Amino acid sequence: MSRIFVTRKIPEDGINLLQEAGHEVTISTKEGVLTKEELIAELGKESYDAVLCLLTDTIDGEVFDATDAKIFANYAVGYDNIDLEAAKERGVTVTNTPGVLTETVAEYAFSLMLAVAKRIPEADRFTRAGKYDGWAPELLLGSDLKGKTLGILGAGRIGYAMAEKAYRGLGMNIIYNDIKKNEHFENDLAATYKEDIEELFAEADIVSVHVPLLPATKHLVNGVRLAMMKKTAYLINTSRGPVVDEKALVEALKTGQIAGAGLDVYEDEPALAAGLSDLDNVTLTPHIASASVETRGKMSLIAAQNIVAFLNGETPENVVS
Ligand code: GLV
Ligand code: GLV
Repeated sequence: MSRIFVTRKIPEDGINLLQEAGHEVTISTKEGVLTKEELIAELGKESYDAVLCLLTDTIDGEVFDATDAKIFANYAVGYDNIDLEAAKERGVTVTNTPGVLTETVAEYAFSLMLAVAKRIPEADRFTRAGKYDGWAPELLLGSDLKGKTLGILGAGRIGYAMAEKAYRGLGMNIIYNDIKKNEHFENDLAATYKEDIEELFAEADIVSVHVPLLPATKHLVNGVRLAMMKKTAYLINTSRGPVVDEKALVEALKTGQIAGAGLDVYEDEPALAAGLSDLDNVTLTPHIASASVETRGKMSLIAAQNIVAFLNGETPENVVS
């Protein structure tokens, strides 16, 4: 039997799996996110063999040093919350939960694109406010997407699934940027590679962000690039907030440099950049792109499977370190 610490309540699928494998599971009883100090204190209370952590936990050398646990299983596909260098130095294995959330996040990015282009949240606010006083020819005009160009930043699994839905479902043209060409984009989606990222910003009617957060992708979407976009274009971000310079985005939205944006992630979550929530041409949601009942259950199962494999002396399927 091993002891496992879970930093916050998650869907029970994974917890059941850990218990059925004979392990003792302790789940943080705090309502919200543990601060780093609280996490360190929790890890010091028992001798744990594994930690199941969330993207909202800051996991660095000090946290690793607070426990004997040699596996940290992140309940997310992104793992920018974990210091991999510090993990490596200490021989700690880090895992994530890729794959299961690909379609869910892509469906969400696709929904945000439609919501923004068709101005659905804005129209809902308008109607609820009692402002609808009769059909009008030019009321809340939105944009069509068929034949428009979708620019995908980051040609990974989620970027591909988003592009596929837009290409097959809406008849959009696909352009994409990544550090290298991706033959699936070219062969399956008739997509065009834009090695020069700025060409993508200039040509796209929608830019959708699907890169992980790395030093090289911080502020990949900056003021200069936003200014290169069409005035009729939209930005969609379901990846990580710091990939977009949020202050610059507020300016671009305010001054009409771009037409609108759909955001599920923020630079300094859960805080929003000043002025962002005053704007009507932006749809804001609270980091829920992977939040379907099905997927959040599967993510908890996968995080648990990674831990069980590790504790059995096997290599977990989703090692990122
Ligand atoms: C969610 O943001 C994830 O990385 O899984
Ligand atoms: C995540 O699963 C990605 O590769 O986009």
